[in-house]
Amino acid sequence: MTDQDYSDKYCLIGAGACGLAVLRVFLERGVPVDCLEREDDVGGVWNFGKPAGSVNRSTHLITSKGLTAYRDYPMPKEYPHYPSHRQVWEYLRSFARDRGLYEKISFGTSVERVEPIDRVGQADGVGQADGVGQVNGVGRVNGVEQVDGEYWRVVVNGGSGSRGSGSESRRYRGVIVANGHLWAPCLPTYPGNFSGVVLHSKDYTSEEIVRDRRVLVVGLGNSACDIAADVARFARRTRLSARRGSYFMPKFLFGKPSDSSGDLLQRLRAPQFLLRWLTRLSAETVVGRPQDYGLPRPDHRLLDERPVMNTDLLSLLGHGRVEVKPEIRSFDGERVRFVDESEEETDVIIFATGYRIRFPFLRDDLLEWSDGCPRVYLNAFHPRFDRLMFAGLSEPSTLTWRTAEELAEALADYIELDRRDPSALNGFREAKGATPAAAANGKRADRKFLEVDYHRYSREIRKLRAGFRRADRGR
Ligand SMILES: Cc1cc2nc3c(=O)[nH]c(=O)nc-3n(C[C@H](O)[C@H](O)[C@H](O)COP(=O)(O)OP(=O)(O)OC[C@H]3O[C@@H](n4cnc5c(N)ncnc54)[C@H](O)[C@@H]3O)c2cc1C
Ligand SMILES: NC(=O)c1ccc[n+]([C@@H]2O[C@H](COP(=O)([O-])OP(=O)(O)OC[C@H]3O[C@@H](n4cnc5c(N)ncnc54)[C@H](OP(=O)(O)O)[C@@H]3O)[C@@H](O)[C@H]2O)c1
Repeated sequence: MTDQDYSDKYCLIGAGACGLAVLRVFLERGVPVDCLEREDDVGGVWNFGKPAGSVNRSTHLITSKGLTAYRDYPMPKEYPHYPSHRQVWEYLRSFARDRGLYEKISFGTSVERVEPIDRVGQADGVGQADGVGQVNGVGRVNGVEQVDGEYWRVVVNGGSGSRGSGSESRRYRGVIVANGHLWAPCLPTYPGNFSGVVLHSKDYTSEEIVRDRRVLVVGLGNSACDIAADVARFARRTRLSARRGSYFMPKFLFGKPSDSSGDLLQRLRAPQFLLRWLTRLSAETVVGRPQDYGLPRPDHRLLDERPVMNTDLLSLLGHGRVEVKPEIRSFDGERVRFVDESEEETDVIIFATGYRIRFPFLRDDLLEWSDGCPRVYLNAFHPRFDRLMFAGLSEPSTLTWRTAEELAEALADYIELDRRDPSALNGFREAKGATPAAAANGKRADRKFLEVDYHRYSREIRKLRAGFRRADRGR
């Protein structure tokens, strides 16, 4: 297959909330870009019921609308503080419409493979598009000879933008990956066989599956707690299996979204001990401690991991409408056995056990993985390849989509400088090349990698942009 020449452009993979942020900034900044989206609309996880959609039937934002919206595009006044997934999707669609993004996106276009090629279009030794590429020997990663990624080959399905128009190989200047990290379910396995229905939280799209059934929800993150509270309205019995404790925060304090007071304190750079103390005070005053509801006591300090933003579940636990169980040990037909040796007859299990980071179109050896996390500088820049970048590969404490916009500005600075004078980026190359492996050993290494503090991360991005400006002036 011959590469179509798109080598003056960048390829942006995905038109979810973060992909849209990048597309909007690139268009404003004049960075040539093609956005490829395999669904037939924008929105990614918020595109309910579509393969990309990870929201379940009961999802509302857990961040308030003011601390979620794009920088100059507030959510409608008539929206509640915590809009439903349907409202969030409508908001993203109207953002894309009003900013003229729809016409710049190729829908129904799936990226199947992404690989570095050199100046003359040769791929590296493994997984070439046509098997004729030669290795130019600029380095080895994980024992595999690599080319420098001067350009990038992107193999797409549905190439002309309409579904089913076949495969096409394109040569792009570079690639920005915004394929999301909350779509590949993490599903634990246990000894024995379970005879009932099993689903992941992303597939809980209708209450019919749990109506009048005995349901077990597994996990104690936001998905598990939301879903257990919803299931309890329809199911015969609702149980929640938690292997560890989580902290709970109310969505409202004094009638206002609770994240706004936390954000204000962080903006004022309140020290961590004060933040922790005030958060504990408000959580314990309003909801009490998790163990007061029969939930496991958290084994970590408050704010070391993201709390669950949910009080509905606590109320249902207090009313006996949801029962707490420990970790699952094994299955035997419809019986689920737990580590405390108790057993429960169960019809449906919903695993709200999170997601894995995946880039199915990138060979594993193009990234260095540890503990399920890729080695990536500032959650955005490939340590070695200069024209492979990531957007949305983080979960900021607040303002996720504004973070994506801020990062997009930095990516645009970087791309412009790279175009004008690649040697001006030598210092930056060294810094990104030296980025340490993503995370240490730990149960939640991938969540630790993703969970960045918005204010700290935003400062890092501002510093990075200042560095690009200095490098530009010093040319
Ligand atoms: C249940 C749930 C609730 C959440 N609640 C909140 C919240 O309250 N507040 C908050 O800030 N965040 C929340 N989030 C996080 C949310 O994921 C982010 O806010 C944001 O929407 C992520 O956008 P994204 O563009 O990075 O990824 P996604 O939304 O996953 O978009 C990725 C896009 O890439 C496309 N794509 C993937 N692979 C390919 C390919 N090979 N070829 C072409 N296209 C491809 C997909 O189709 C998709 O459209 C929630 C997430 C979930 C799952
Ligand atoms: N807006 C909303 O309403 C909303 C709703 C849902 C999710 N979200 C967001 O979406 C993202 C994903 O949330 P999530 O709740 O789906 O996933 P998550 O935060 O990763 O939580 C997964 C839960 O499953 C547990 N778990 C994982 N593997 C397990 C195993 N093998 N056995 C038992 N338990 C296991 C985890 O326990 P450990 O802690 O022990 O690993 C954790 O409690 C988060 O950013 C979240 O904030 C938002």
